[in-house]
Amino acid sequence: MTKKIVIDPVTRIEGHAKISIYLNDAGEVDDARFHVVEYRGFEKFCEGRPFTEMAGITARICGICPVSHLLAAAKTGDKILAVKIPPAAEKLRRLMNLGQITQSHALSFFHLSSPDWLLGWDSDPAKRNVFGLIAADPDLARAGIRLRQFGQTVIELLGAKKIHAAWAVPGGVRSPLSPGGVAWIRDRLPESRATVKMALDLFKNLMESLTTEIEQFGHFPSLFMGLVGKNGLWEHYGGQIRFSDSEGNILADGLSEDDYQDYLGEAVEKWSYLKFPYYKPLGYPDGIYRVGPLARVNICSHFGTPEADKELQEFRQRAGGVATSSFFYHYARLLEILAALERIEQLIDDPDITSQRVRANAGINQLEGIGVSEAPRGTLFHHYKVDENGLIQKVNLIIATGQNNLAMNKTVAQIAKHYIQGTEVTEGMLNRVEAGIRAFDPCLSCSTHAAGQMPLHVQLWGADGSILNEVYRN
Ligand code: MG
Ligand code: NI
Repeated sequence: MTKKIVIDPVTRIEGHAKISIYLNDAGEVDDARFHVVEYRGFEKFCEGRPFTEMAGITARICGICPVSHLLAAAKTGDKILAVKIPPAAEKLRRLMNLGQITQSHALSFFHLSSPDWLLGWDSDPAKRNVFGLIAADPDLARAGIRLRQFGQTVIELLGAKKIHAAWAVPGGVRSPLSPGGVAWIRDRLPESRATVKMALDLFKNLMESLTTEIEQFGHFPSLFMGLVGKNGLWEHYGGQIRFSDSEGNILADGLSEDDYQDYLGEAVEKWSYLKFPYYKPLGYPDGIYRVGPLARVNICSHFGTPEADKELQEFRQRAGGVATSSFFYHYARLLEILAALERIEQLIDDPDITSQRVRANAGINQLEGIGVSEAPRGTLFHHYKVDENGLIQKVNLIIATGQNNLAMNKTVAQIAKHYIQGTEVTEGMLNRVEAGIRAFDPCLSCSTHAAGQMPLHVQLWGADGSILNEVYRN
């Protein structure tokens, strides 16, 4: 006989999900689960479409991460054409991904998560959002909004307004950056860098008062996976797959996306539409791994840019080596924004950025392709099989958020066990459980290929199966 609390939907995340918390007769938390409750079976309805349309189609399934799908689809298309794309095209794709990392991480940090730390976990939920932040600290909120806008503008300068029109295409990209675009980016870089430095100072100061959160918000050993470049360089677009553990040991390195089925398994549970990927050699669920900013920061040996590398050293000191608390996702996001801005600065000085040689043309030379890229939320795989005419026969997508599914479940259970006891459940306690999910910045829209907003619904279930308490919010 158990009691159950349900948080449905979880707020301030991208998509729709709920959390159930199960209490035993003593009123202690037995377990908690993060469920994704929408499903649209997107992989199925791509079948029969030309592979060249995949970037446009997959960008539309998720309005949150169109750039990530665009790049993974284009890279998969490169494989089907069997071409090496022009150097300028790779640099331009990288530039767009850096803009995407900046805007997405800024949204997560400033708009979605910082209200909890700056306004308080238990503060009025009606004001515990970006509008409350604007009222409480207008300068910080404005800086965060402008940092996000910087990243968005980098994307727009490259892809024009119609990002869905598939600027990145199999073989390269459609157009370079204009000289005016170069000038705009150069002009706005110093302000953007100042903002991320300010956010880093702010967060590092806050950490002293957030020791319980660091200890309880998804703090456990797991593997970490992501792309790394030569000599372990931080990557976001190219490179090869690395798995490291919580001690910093490299378990597997130099893995190709082509072989992902050898090392990634996808388990299914009855209570969630989101699959549970795991590292195959360790089995399910022992092969739990995390992806995204925390993973990339943990697995890389260095960023390769001066400011970010300085911050990485401090990050590792504060984490005591490998950061195993999911609360460090927030900190890792700031490091990645800084690294992205430093790399953008290098890229816009590269003459290739305005080159007109940006696309390799070829026909269909392979009937199967697997592309991989680092989305802001983690490693994204696209896998297509096509016929002789390039029509899609089969699609498999492995989305960043899915790969964090095991870790997100472990995180909500840990937080619930720490904060919730008995039937007296406050809104602030539930907010902490939700915040465990927000640390991962999940995108459920593309995980399940559905679109939607996410309000909150909490149910507390009695031992006899009746609902003891219920909270809704939007
Ligand atoms: Mg899939
Ligand atoms: Ni998405």
